[in-house]
Amino acid sequence: MGNIVIRPFRREDRAEVRRISCQTAFLEVDLHKFFSDEEILADALTLSFTDHEPESCFVAVSDNKVIGYIIGSKNVANINRISGSKIIIPLLIKAFRRGIFWNKINLKLFFNVIRSAFKGEFVMPDFSKDFPATLHINIDKAYRGQRIGERLIETYLNFLKEQKISAVHLGTFSEGAKTFFLKQGFNILFKSKRTYLKPYIDQEINFYILGKKL
Ligand SMILES: CC(C)(COP(=O)(O)OP(=O)(O)OC[C@H]1O[C@@H](n2cnc3c(N)ncnc32)[C@H](O)[C@@H]1OP(=O)(O)O)[C@@H](O)C(=O)NCCC(=O)NCCS
Repeated sequence: MGNIVIRPFRREDRAEVRRISCQTAFLEVDLHKFFSDEEILADALTLSFTDHEPESCFVAVSDNKVIGYIIGSKNVANINRISGSKIIIPLLIKAFRRGIFWNKINLKLFFNVIRSAFKGEFVMPDFSKDFPATLHINIDKAYRGQRIGERLIETYLNFLKEQKISAVHLGTFSEGAKTFFLKQGFNILFKSKRTYLKPYIDQEINFYILGKKL
């Protein structure tokens, strides 16, 4: 394996970032048990960052291949506004055209998510004022445990400090990722149950929001 380099995201990294984003979209379970369309899922997970705030994104590269990324925003309130005005409607139209609403697997997921929403599982405090920045990090499965995550976090936090950003927060379902972030000096700000994953993964799934002051 060649030297692993952390560098700013470039437009040509987009396809690999999207590929890796789908690997762990539903923890480590095969994506196609939950959702049929990788294109739509990758749009939902990455578009607002890679296409609207690429300067806040970084990749880990080995032998010219992207093997991990951190995509983020200095201001989550702003990225949420962009999602609302520029992403959600075109994405719904694209999803409709690609037939995702007629697929049994997707309908089961939508039903479970709506049921969770009615139980109030998506109600949570707004951390965008006290922890304005956000991030998503993902390392290709074959390259985990080599301190690439740690190097990406360090690069991103230094970038945020240079931009005079006061704090950052993120959400995760993964107990492993929670441990990783605690080791990077993050604290748990919020924890709740997410039952919509239970039909697929037969265990209690917690959703954590972790934050760090810079
Ligand atoms: C979480 C993730 C980013 C960690 O990256 P990584 O390169 O594998 O982690 P590192 O090698 O930098 O590990 C740094 C430290 O965190 C610990 N750690 C990393 N992943 C861990 C896990 N799954 N469980 C427990 N500890 C973990 C390491 O043991 C190491 O601890 P140490 O300092 O005591 O030696 C990576 O596993 C990943 O991409 N997971 C899937 C996506 C995800 O869950 N993203 C988070 C939500 S945005």
